[in-house]
Parts: sequence; structure tokens; C-alpha cells
Amino acid sequence: CGIVACRMDEAAGPFLIDALKLLEYRGYDSAGVAIRTLDGTMASSRTTNRVETLERQLDEWAGPALSGTGIGHTRWATHGAVTESNAHPHADCRQRVSIVHNGIIENSDALRRQLEQTGHLFASEVDSEVVSHLIEEELLITGDLRSAVTAATLRLHGSWAIVALDAETGRMVAAAHRSPLLVARSARGVFAASDINAIAEFVDEFQAMTDGDVVELGEEFVWTRSGAHSAAPAYATSNWSGVTHGLAGHTDYMSKEIAEQPETAARIIDRLAPMIADGSLWSGLNLPPFERVAVLGCGTSLNAGRVIANAFGALGDVPNSSLIASEASSAIMDPRTLVIALSQSGETADVLRAIDDLDLGTSSLMALTNSEHSTLARRADSMLNCNAGPEIGVAATKTFVAQVITGVAMALSALAATRRIDRDYARRQTDDLRRIPDLLAHAIAASQKAIPPLIEEIRDAQGFLFLGRGAGVVYAAEGALKLKELSYRWAEHYPAGELKHGPLALVEAGTPVVVIDSGDRRIESNISEVEARGGRIIRIGGAGSTIPALGLSLGTAMPGGIDRWGPLESVVPLQILARDLALALGRDVDKPRNLAKSVTVE
Ligand code: G6P
Repeated sequence: CGIVACRMDEAAGPFLIDALKLLEYRGYDSAGVAIRTLDGTMASSRTTNRVETLERQLDEWAGPALSGTGIGHTRWATHGAVTESNAHPHADCRQRVSIVHNGIIENSDALRRQLEQTGHLFASEVDSEVVSHLIEEELLITGDLRSAVTAATLRLHGSWAIVALDAETGRMVAAAHRSPLLVARSARGVFAASDINAIAEFVDEFQAMTDGDVVELGEEFVWTRSGAHSAAPAYATSNWSGVTHGLAGHTDYMSKEIAEQPETAARIIDRLAPMIADGSLWSGLNLPPFERVAVLGCGTSLNAGRVIANAFGALGDVPNSSLIASEASSAIMDPRTLVIALSQSGETADVLRAIDDLDLGTSSLMALTNSEHSTLARRADSMLNCNAGPEIGVAATKTFVAQVITGVAMALSALAATRRIDRDYARRQTDDLRRIPDLLAHAIAASQKAIPPLIEEIRDAQGFLFLGRGAGVVYAAEGALKLKELSYRWAEHYPAGELKHGPLALVEAGTPVVVIDSGDRRIESNISEVEARGGRIIRIGGAGSTIPALGLSLGTAMPGGIDRWGPLESVVPLQILARDLALALGRDVDKPRNLAKSVTVE
């Protein structure tokens, strides 16, 4: 979910609408705003449609004039169905205090029962609504919004980023605990947002709230902080800019972000290449020596992590493992493990919870993220920015490529610095990395030609299999994930050798089976097993590739042996296949149903 709040001299409505459009990638099940009127009442508008509908509703507002103070929210449903009454903001019984909330109130059932017993009437099914009623109750006692919010949060269990707005006084108070929220001011006004992205055009600097913080967003910011932090948090500088948000002639952000991959890769490699062979990329991270590597993440970031873990193993014989973040809390960490937590947003709750719960001992934690000011970046011992630039499409594309290249460059630098590989070998590998932008560009061109004619043939297929061997398995996983996310068709991935141990039963005449051939000859017999049952093979790489002209299909191994952890370019046809199929089925490729780009609840 996304939160934004403002107090400005100009009208709050257009600002909140624009900010919510930028936050929609955090959830788009419903959206709403509450704006203080000049009469000291609250004007509230909510919808289960997209933000555009909210914009129209505000344009048609016929009540008292609206002020420059308001709060807005875009929702990704957790508790309660997608209905207008479950959409935020939520108000108290007197319609005096409105709140927006991200996170989960774990004791909401108990609080709701207590509040109902004292006469509170609830208007929704969502956990968040207890917050407005708790604040109302505390406000009756203290008459002071900041004290009321502070007291209310002491009764909450779970996670929250909250902004509360009092219509009567116009006061606005923010509170955060285990859910990101930042506050900022500039000549344009005073702001709060769950994500700098929403307000980057209005502020250059911001302060990130940490667990337990309450801050009044008045002329001055008044902080109430827990014992460990007495001073207000330092200012951070925003490096996001609204300019990069345009579609640049593309029909959707996914198309734009796929197309940006060669340039993104080139930019990252140019920056990191000089720091690989001399080990300086690794030494700059100031992390202790390690004996093994564990990667941790969710979704596409986990797949990128798996490629990086493979690279540590294939290039430097480093024992490695991967952890699904939501299952990692009970993992037993071997001593001196380099734990690499990957998260595009740096705000994924499963990842943050995992790193909180892990007993690191002599191990160290590195964050690999696209958001250098994120909670993950702050909590890790060291941070590496994958520098992909803003990614708007909910399904990750260019950030996967950016994470893999940044992570592999770091791995090479670490292996060189710790003398597991020599400098010459590291240089040859770096030369291989430099070929990636071309390979990606090649893959885009080849896929754009080869995939559209396939789509008619596979359009009505209800299920897909994705197979790979060795370094190809993780790409099969990423291909199946992309297809599920975008087309809403069932897709499973397997190491190709496992096919005969069960999944082969799914194959019938015409079943599409996507095979990533990363050079293991045994894949031929797996392909034959499918073809013998009438399955439709879509082959990526290797002889007779359905999508030719990939590096792997050129018939020449890479000089440095990059194919031992690659083939990175095979992700491109997988992305384009998923997008083209989704478009043929009439899906919204930038905002797939039920998903959000950044999921800040467990
Ligand atoms: C969500 C998104 C996925 C993403 C995952 C991890 O589920 O829909 O596309 O891969 O979160 O996000 P992160 O920001 O941690 O990389």
C-alpha cells in the first residue's frame, strides 16, 4: 500500500492525485483521499477503481472549499475485501480524525471488540480502522493529537505507517513501526510518504522515520522517539526524479523497461568494471572475510540472488545457498557467511523480517537493492545499489538484470580480493560482462521477431512448463514466474531431469514447454521426452532454438566462461513471451491483478 500526506499553500487535491498515481505500484485495489475543508470539516473520496476515478470524483466535489492539507492512500488488500468502505482513509465516529495506514494491526480483533464495547461503531472490515477509533478515544482524554497518536500506537501490535489528520484543528501526525514512512519539507510545503518516489518532485531532502517514531507535521516537525534515538533522524538526499516516469513512446512501462535493459546493463558495467579485478568493489563494502554465501529475497529478487549464488559457486567454488525470505527466520547460519539480501524496493516485509530474525553471529549482511534509502539499506552492514533507475511495471524486468550484473561484479571482486581467483581470470570474466549489453540487445531483437507468431498457437493453453538444467534452472523459474504474474495462466518450472519423475504426466498434445538450454547436452533427451508426447517445445538457446541469435546459440563459448553462471540474456525472451501472451489475453501488463510491486506486509 502507499501513503502520502501534505500541508501546502496550494490545493492538496491535484498534488495527492499525482502522488497516488506514482504510488499505485504499491497497490491498486482501491484508493482514497481525505482533505480538510476551509470550514474545518473533512472531505473524503474513495474508489475501488484506479486513481483516475478519484480524480474525477474530486473534480466534481460540490461541498465546502478544500484546503491544502490532506492525506491519500492506495491499497493492496490484506484484511477485508476490495470495497469502497474498506478503502482508506478511515475516520472515527465523529468524522473528525481521518487516518491512512500501511502494515498489519495484529491485535485488531481484540481492539475492535474493546472499542465496540465502549460504543464505537465501525464502518469497515479492515484492521486499520481501529487506529482512527483509538486516536478518537485518546483525543477525548488529552485533547492533543500528537499525544493521542502516541498513546494509540502504544496499544497496537504489528506494523504500521500512519498519518492522522484532525479536521477540527488541521493538525497532522505521522507514526511508524516496521513499515516505511518518511517526512519532508520544502518551500512548497510539508509532506509525508511511504516512498520518496511520491514526493520527489516537491522535495530534495527527507527524514526517514524509524520504529516507534511519532512526528507532528506542523510548522516545525516535533519528534517523539524511543529511548535509543533522541535526536531527529538525519536528512537524506533524494536521487529520484519525476522525469524518468514517462513512457518515452512505449505503450506500457514493461515494454519500456525491457527495452532499457541493454543500456542499463552497459551503464552498470562501465561503472563497476574498473573495480572488479583489483578487488576494490568488494573492499569498499567493508565487510569481514567470508567462507560461504547465502542469498535471501522474494520473487524476482530471489531468482536474481540465485544467479549470484551460482556465480560464487561456479567461479570461485564458494559453498552457497539461497533462502526464501518468508521461510528464512528459522535458518541456521553457518559461521562466516556472507548473507546477501536482495530487494528491488528494499521495503519487502518478508525480507526485513528475515534479516531481523536471523542470528548472524560471525556472519555479515549485505543489501543489494535499487533503493539506497530503503529500510533494508539502512539495516544492513553494507549496501550495494543496483542502480537500475525507477522501475514502474509491477513485474520486475530491468531490476533483475541490474541485480544480477551488480551481484556478479561484486562476487568477482570479492573472489579476486580474497585470492580465490587470480586477477587475469577476473579480467577475462569482466570482458565477458562487457558483452552482456550486446547479448541483451540481440535477445530483444530476436524475441520481438520470433515470439509474436508463437502467441496465437499458445494463447489458449491453460498451463505451461518451464525447464532448465544447471545454470538454466533459475531462468526457468523466472520465466514461469513472469508468465504467471502477467498472463494469469498456470506455469511450473522444474529442473529438466525431474520431468520424468512426475510433471511429464501434465504434458499432452500442444502443451507449451519452454526449455532454457544453457549448454547441458542431457537436455536433448528431456526435449525428446516432451516431443514424444506431443508437447510444444519453445526452445531458448541451443541448436534449433525457437528464439535464435542468442549468445548461447552462436555456438561459441564465451572466452571467460560466463556461461557457467549465465545465460543472463535468456531472461529477455522469457519476459517478452509473458508480456506478449498477457497482451493477447487482454491483461494489464503494468498492473497485474492481485499483485503489488512492493509488498510491505508479511
Ligand atoms: C512483489 C512483486 C515482485 C517482486 C517481489 C520482491 O511480490 O510483485 O515482482 O519480485 O515483490 O520485491 P522486492 O522489492 O523485494 O524486490
